[in-house]
Amino acid sequence: MALYSEKVMDHFLNPRNVGVIEDADGVGEVGNAKCGDIMKMYLKIDNDKISDVKFETFGCASAIASSSMATELIKGKSVDNAMELTNKAVAEALDGLPDYKMHCSVLAEEAIRSALDDYYKKKGIDHYDKL
Ligand code: FES
Repeated sequence: MALYSEKVMDHFLNPRNVGVIEDADGVGEVGNAKCGDIMKMYLKIDNDKISDVKFETFGCASAIASSSMATELIKGKSVDNAMELTNKAVAEALDGLPDYKMHCSVLAEEAIRSALDDYYKKKGIDHYDKL
């Protein structure tokens, strides 16, 4: 069996939504201290919907594929929906990741959370009561 699913390879080789949003409403950056990989997410939010999302990932193939898939999963969704995105959902959408690569999908979940945190903070909303 191949190490990576076709979907992982596709999103690694042709990542969706790579880049920067200059006037982003929320920006989040997270890293994994063990492997040193870094992921940055930019969100544009209109009327509580993710109208645009871009990412920059300096990391392994799974991290790039995970961030690409995560952006696809939250684009057009409500902020609340995006908040609920789990790394498991990202990995499933990629048709699975090897066990020792699951932490790469965690990075994608955390990057989106962190960008949403930033959005809430800028708006002065205390969203933790919603969780
Ligand atoms: Fe670190 Fe994949 S090995 S995110």
